[in-house]
Amino acid sequence: MVNDFDLTNPDFFVSGDPHAVWKELRAVDPVHWTERQNKRGFWSITKYDDAQRVYRDPTTFSSQGGIALGFADAPDPTQPRMQYGFGQMMITTDPPRHGRIRQMLNRRFTPRALAPHEPHVRAITREIIDAVAEQGRCDLVVDVAAKLPTAVICEMLAVPREDWDLMFALGNMTVGNEDPEYQVDGSAQKTGAQAQRDIFNYFMKLIGERRSNPGDDLVSALVHGDIEDDHLSDLEVLFNCFLLILGGQETTRNAITGGMDALMRCPADRDRLAHDPALMRTGIEEILRWTSPITHIMRTATRAVDLRGRSIREGDRVVIWNPSANRDEEVFADPYRFDIARKPNDHIAFGYGEHFCIGANLARLELRVMLDELLRRMPDMAPAGPPERLRSNLLAGIKHLPVTFTPARVAA
Ligand code: HEM
Repeated sequence: MVNDFDLTNPDFFVSGDPHAVWKELRAVDPVHWTERQNKRGFWSITKYDDAQRVYRDPTTFSSQGGIALGFADAPDPTQPRMQYGFGQMMITTDPPRHGRIRQMLNRRFTPRALAPHEPHVRAITREIIDAVAEQGRCDLVVDVAAKLPTAVICEMLAVPREDWDLMFALGNMTVGNEDPEYQVDGSAQKTGAQAQRDIFNYFMKLIGERRSNPGDDLVSALVHGDIEDDHLSDLEVLFNCFLLILGGQETTRNAITGGMDALMRCPADRDRLAHDPALMRTGIEEILRWTSPITHIMRTATRAVDLRGRSIREGDRVVIWNPSANRDEEVFADPYRFDIARKPNDHIAFGYGEHFCIGANLARLELRVMLDELLRRMPDMAPAGPPERLRSNLLAGIKHLPVTFTPARVAA
């Protein structure tokens, strides 16, 4: 059997083929136990139906022990609550409190609430593309794909423009803390801690300002929102700002880059998508299935439970591998084929159930506008080198992707 330990090794996600491991696990041991030295073991969920079952049962599969393997491995069990916000940040809080925090923000992310922002999202996208259009080459990640999600979430949080690059850098340090490119002093721990401290100090000031001078932004919504008769504490507001600045930036960019990468490899599909707007909807869902930007999501079992004949004990960690569920051959026909017209396509790239991604509609909007503009203005974009992958088993990240295109063809 392929070595399942690979799935805990971030290097494997840079140069290895995790899909080969997942394919084998789905076939021979779909609910698979990994024992680890000096760290708690975990169950790997690799099939779609099991992933949905775990996602939709927050009572049995809790988020309050953390949702990512790395962050939950702190040696001191009291540390995660203070350092990582378990039980305070929406994504690591269980019902009923989870739903109450989420209610404060939900209405800002509905398609109806987002629709009026589309012209502005398009204007930002055009500005980003204009900045590289005449060069004939760029780094698709740093110069283009990462810029839009950063700009949009920063505007929603009322982070001023001069600080967007800082938020980009701090986001990379937080989720890319295991990657040498973003590390401080070669230490993942130090890098993550410093980035979190800087983000907290930054938002502490913003929260202070919004407390006395509320606006129509997400920070104000968290500061002034009521949860029944309760308010969020400053620390809870901070953790949720932290979640939004990371969630908003670090995921969509990988869907944009991974989607363009797939389309550049299938020029016929790219041309079809460029000339048939009706395909955009299915094309975007296929990009989300194909890229599955969040590689794993973890839960902790609150009671003993059976899953596909395996006995999960109370306190066990259960890890859902989203890209594996999204290639499950029992659910997706020809799953290793990138098919922009795929239907049905009920992928779980955004998770499922209680914690289903609050930013899904925003991510879809950003993807649609960016692809639309890139396919129109840079129709012959081609890779000028291989994608450089992020050293992470949490995010299917691409750090750099050099591309070329014909400058003459990019006049707006
Ligand atoms: C392609 C882009 C994106 C992907 C693939 C993605 C993926 C996910 C997934 C898998 C979850 C579920 C977590 C769980 O079950 O524990 C989630 C939750 C979340 N996402 Fe996203 N996300 C994306 C974009 C965004 C954006 C743009 C935002 C900005 C607001 C965002 C903010 C959040 C938040 C706040 C949660 C927690 C929701 C909750 O706990 O109820 N995400 N996302």
